[in-house]
Amino acid sequence: AAANLVDGHGRRIDYLRLSVTDRCDLRCRYCMAEDMVFLPKSQVLSIEEMAELAERFVARGIRRIRLTGGEPLVRRGIDTLAMRLGALIGHGIDELTLTTNAMRLAEHAPMLAAAGVRRINVSLDTLDPAAFRHITRVGDLGVALRGIAAARDTGLQVKINMVALAGLNEDQLLPMLAYCAANGCDLTLIETMPLGEVTDDRSDHYIPLHHFIAPLRAERPIYPVDQKTGGPARYFAVEDSPVTLGLITPLSDNFCSTCNRIRLTVEGRIYMCLGQDDHVDLRAALREGGAAAADSLIDAALAGKPRAHDFHIERKSGPAVARHMSATGG
Ligand code: GTP
Ligand code: 5AD
Ligand code: SF4
Repeated sequence: AAANLVDGHGRRIDYLRLSVTDRCDLRCRYCMAEDMVFLPKSQVLSIEEMAELAERFVARGIRRIRLTGGEPLVRRGIDTLAMRLGALIGHGIDELTLTTNAMRLAEHAPMLAAAGVRRINVSLDTLDPAAFRHITRVGDLGVALRGIAAARDTGLQVKINMVALAGLNEDQLLPMLAYCAANGCDLTLIETMPLGEVTDDRSDHYIPLHHFIAPLRAERPIYPVDQKTGGPARYFAVEDSPVTLGLITPLSDNFCSTCNRIRLTVEGRIYMCLGQDDHVDLRAALREGGAAAADSLIDAALAGKPRAHDFHIERKSGPAVARHMSATGG
């Protein structure tokens, strides 16, 4: 098979998001239901199976891999997987990265650095301890901040992911920017996306990023910068700040035309788009014929990758996509 993944709309696919578990040690209100039901072990790929599939994707032309969850650092064997995929850096892939909630980051940061990870994205929506507990339902802000500090001490670059939530963290943008400046982090803001039934109605908390950043722009200008990370963020310099500000606007300004990625879940499914439920199941082919047997299904997935997501947030009619964000790790 050709080492070159192009979808049915002519887009080159070179970014694999590998969700290594659907489990998490937090229960963020916009991501999970309070009583989430997780996959049984029998439906979950082993570390060896995930590594084989990932290597197959790299042979097919994937150049960047991001480990996600759920929370990737709760997966047993994540160190083995990170070391194995890290060995591909410079030998097929340019970069291995990870998105984490930081609860177990202090423990794992040295392992990640040793595996060749240079930068990580950390979900952190507020610096207010009570609001952090409210948003994550169970989390302790101090643990997250200590995890971030440990990662910085290990030499990892950290980009904070902050989901913009009307009524929950609108007051936090300027404090978060100051925290990032003081701690050597960058900051990316994200519009909340409607995946999976959660207790809250996400449309009550949706705020377009141009509104969310208005208080910042009233204080100082921001300028577009020509930085690219492979993901959907558009980046800006902030006057008098060392922080690069990323904006991810799936609802107010969608970026599907430049999509370069696919997702592989811990069940062995390829999801062609975050904002659609269509998927292709590789697990049976993998278990019967090895990773090479997945090739024709990978081709089918690419050919069927939709042009754009189905997200809509105006309508109070439940989520556009039935599965939860945690099943694909965003
Ligand atoms: P880098 O650009 O490599 O730093 O990573 P990233 O921003 O792609 O990854 P991260 O896991 O930090 O995701 C940040 C946010 O972007 C999450 O809310 C993801 O759900 C969202 N995101 C990533 N890829 C897509 C995509 O293809 N479509 C949409 N709608 N959202 C995406
Ligand atoms: N909308 C937007 N971003 C979300 N994330 C989790 N759920 C949602 C949602 N409903 C973010 C997390 C994490 C990233 C992988 O996805 O905050 O940073
Ligand atoms: Fe866990 Fe991340 Fe989902 Fe929060 S957003 S519940 S930390 S997977």
